[in-house]
Amino acid sequence: VLQGIANQLGNDYKLKLAHSKDSMKLSIQELDEIITHDTALVVLSHVAFKSAFMYDMEAVTELAHSRGALMLWDLSHAAGAVQVDLNKSKVDLAVGCTYKYLNGGPGAPAYLYVREGLHEKLTSPVWGWFGKKDPFDFELEFIPAPGIKKFLVGTPPILSQEAIEPGLDIVLEAGMENLRQKSIQQSQYLIFLYKKYLQKLDFSLGSPTDPDCRGSHVSFQHPEAYRICKALIEPHSSRIRVIPDFRAPDNIRIGISPLYTSFMDIWFAVDRLLKIVNNKEYSSFTNKKDQVT
Ligand SMILES: Cc1ncc(COP(=O)(O)O)c(C=O)c1O
Repeated sequence: VLQGIANQLGNDYKLKLAHSKDSMKLSIQELDEIITHDTALVVLSHVAFKSAFMYDMEAVTELAHSRGALMLWDLSHAAGAVQVDLNKSKVDLAVGCTYKYLNGGPGAPAYLYVREGLHEKLTSPVWGWFGKKDPFDFELEFIPAPGIKKFLVGTPPILSQEAIEPGLDIVLEAGMENLRQKSIQQSQYLIFLYKKYLQKLDFSLGSPTDPDCRGSHVSFQHPEAYRICKALIEPHSSRIRVIPDFRAPDNIRIGISPLYTSFMDIWFAVDRLLKIVNNKEYSSFTNKKDQVT
């Protein structure tokens, strides 16, 4: 999306990608060097999609503001998994999807947050009729709706919106604090099992050990990661099916959704990883990549 916008803006803005040295995160010191007084907008995932590293939202936002930049957080791997307080951190903008920890499933609606003080100043790059002040006037001139509504574009996907409501209700009913507590206990348990059983089988940990800077998934790296993922998903000799994500080049991402993942599920996943590697079950799969991994 940012590449597309930078392309539209011509030479006025350049997209600068920051590369992580440890493949896990950018430290606050690295960010301090990267974000300059020329930076217009800083974009980061609150919880990184591969490593699950969780940035200190307040500290990074403050750093961006101190250089005169706006801060945009992607909450896709954070909302529903960790506590997020956009007001407290004085965040300017946020986006995210609802199909992970908010229970929407693929195709569920995305969301956007714009700090109230920016509603008047910012405009959407896409002016659609649902963002108009009076969409049913059918006037040809686009007069934006007041407030956050101006960022709407087209007719909302009603079926997906209906379906997301109970997904959100159940998160609210369980309570984010309870969910986070269970998620930490579960990811700690998974890392404990990794240390006890997986480390000696050529797995390495691609996520932080400190739960305070980790979201609700854990990544393990292994030279045979892709074929191990295939064996988890389509077991030939086990009735237990585990659905991880493969993230190139060698990450097996195990997502813990504390609402419905049980401690037994975590044990079964590790037991499967052990058997797949010990019995070389992965060797009956090809390394040919599927479209969705
Ligand atoms: C970091 C991040 N942002 C956003 C998304 C959602 O993107 P989209 O709504 O285009 O499917 C994902 C989905 O995996 C993601 O991992």
